[in-house]
Amino acid sequence: MIFTVAIDGPAASGKGTIAKALARELGFAHLDTGLLYRAVAAKSLEGQDPVEAAQGLDPGGLDGARLRTAAVAQEASRVAAIPAVRVALLDVQKAFARREGGAVMDGRDIGTVICPEAEAKLFVTASAEARAGRRYRELVAAGQEVTLEGTLAEVRARDARDAGRDVAPLRPAGDAVVIDTSGLGIEEAVSAALAVVRERL
Ligand code: C5P
Repeated sequence: MIFTVAIDGPAASGKGTIAKALARELGFAHLDTGLLYRAVAAKSLEGQDPVEAAQGLDPGGLDGARLRTAAVAQEASRVAAIPAVRVALLDVQKAFARREGGAVMDGRDIGTVICPEAEAKLFVTASAEARAGRRYRELVAAGQEVTLEGTLAEVRARDARDAGRDVAPLRPAGDAVVIDTSGLGIEEAVSAALAVVRERL
């Protein structure tokens, strides 16, 4: 069976949590496409050319823990605005979307660019304050030294870069169902998302 669930949205909106839960529930493969950009960003911070890093990327062995830092996130939104970086990551993502057995993908441009033909499209969002609060708690739990104000400023800066760039800007696909998770718990958000997918299965 070919069936793609495309989940887009801003940082810390809950899209990653929803994507993982849907994949588990449906028995689909899951790809967090932000990790691809974060892996390129980590190489760029080490001094490598980001376009070459994207062209040589092995999407198999990405170390999520090492890539989920504030510095890597900011650099990811910078390298993600380079058109040649996005082009280099296109084929692997398109192939994943249409793999046999079903796919859940989360990112910024899945429903608009990577897989406009996706059977189910979700745009998961929340207020900047709600998202910054979540990200702050995650980073503190991971032992990083951050402040709530600094995290909010970083969330806003990343939103502005992701929505304002010329190539594949963050925006909902015309046929995406919008889920605002500001006032929702994880279970409520997951069941809202699952209901949308089940209607289309
Ligand atoms: O989702 P995550 O926060 O891990 O993404 C890191 C950065 O990668 C985002 O801020 C965005 O600039 C970029 N990204 C993108 N397109 C995607 C996924 C992530 O441009 N499909």
